[in-house]
Amino acid sequence: MAEFSEILGYEVLATLGVGARSTIYAVKDGKSQLFALKRVVKSSPSDQRFVDQAISEHEVAQKFDHPTLRKSIKLIRQRNFIRTSEILVLMEMVDGATLEKHQPENLGALCQLCREVAQGLGVMHKGGYVHADIKPNNIMITDKGHIKIIDFGQSCPIGTVKERIQGTPDYIAPEQVQRRSITPQTDVFNLGATMYWLLTSKHVPTLIPKGSAGISLRTEDTCKTPIEVNELVPPALSSLVMDCIQTDAPKRPDTMVQVADRLEIAARQFERRDQNGNNGGQNGEPKGDAKDGAKGGANNGVKGGSDGAAKRNAS
Ligand SMILES: Nc1ncnc2c1ncn2[C@@H]1O[C@H](COP(=O)(O)OP(=O)(O)O)[C@@H](O)[C@H]1O
Ligand SMILES: [Mg+2]
Repeated sequence: MAEFSEILGYEVLATLGVGARSTIYAVKDGKSQLFALKRVVKSSPSDQRFVDQAISEHEVAQKFDHPTLRKSIKLIRQRNFIRTSEILVLMEMVDGATLEKHQPENLGALCQLCREVAQGLGVMHKGGYVHADIKPNNIMITDKGHIKIIDFGQSCPIGTVKERIQGTPDYIAPEQVQRRSITPQTDVFNLGATMYWLLTSKHVPTLIPKGSAGISLRTEDTCKTPIEVNELVPPALSSLVMDCIQTDAPKRPDTMVQVADRLEIAARQFERRDQNGNNGGQNGEPKGDAKDGAKGGANNGVKGGSDGAAKRNAS
């Protein structure tokens, strides 16, 4: 149960999630329409970066209109005299669970879902942006079996060099740790690390493994391939994941279109083996009840065109 029954006229129904400095509530407006509301409270000057992050998250999400990218509807700034005291971001409510909690029922479904993620990220890249924090907890599977990419808090224009290390241990790309330029290949790495975990329940070595005190050495040579950990993984999928997690960004797939196409090939490999009766119910299968569900679509999803970084529109 949430700690409030109402925020700014929205009825609070439940707490959906708690992030580093934010809480996400399920809310209802006067017309009984459901939304998610992210609330970031600034309790000290050092919280300013979380406020900035929430504002940027809203601005980035507003640039896109694509079924795989969670929409942002409104930004509300609460002030204490002239200072911002909290930020509320009204968002599309996603009915479902994160990939961390709810995994696809088989490798075919996993390929299709990851293909949808690649398609959504491809839309962001065409619009000039990198998500920069793809991980199982920032991808939701809807009750209809499709995916929705959430949490644009670290998203940035292609080519950004960040002031501080941002990303998530176990999924973070080398260039994020070394504070080099963030590019679409950063999302390729983060998605590769996500697929590795989905396929093996293990994490790839990154420069910041979870729980480590500092920066460690990484080499993909020390990383077992997914097929070595789980023999049911189609070879095409195993090699795709290993290509995505290359230390050298230029050695990773160039575009999300390539990643999506290779996922389609892997899904077919899985289906063929399935038809031959080789996959059913063996150990190591991802579990869950997500259904197949990749959808293409003519809409390129970028509001106002897809020719490079769209302008930032302050709200
Ligand atoms: N629009 C949404 N609809 C439903 N649940 C959501 C939504 N946005 C976030 N959540 C839930 O809240 C959690 C934290 O949200 P997220 O945006 O990732 O916050 P943070 O930036 O603090 O990580 C998510 O993992 C998810 O479980
Ligand atoms: Mg998150």
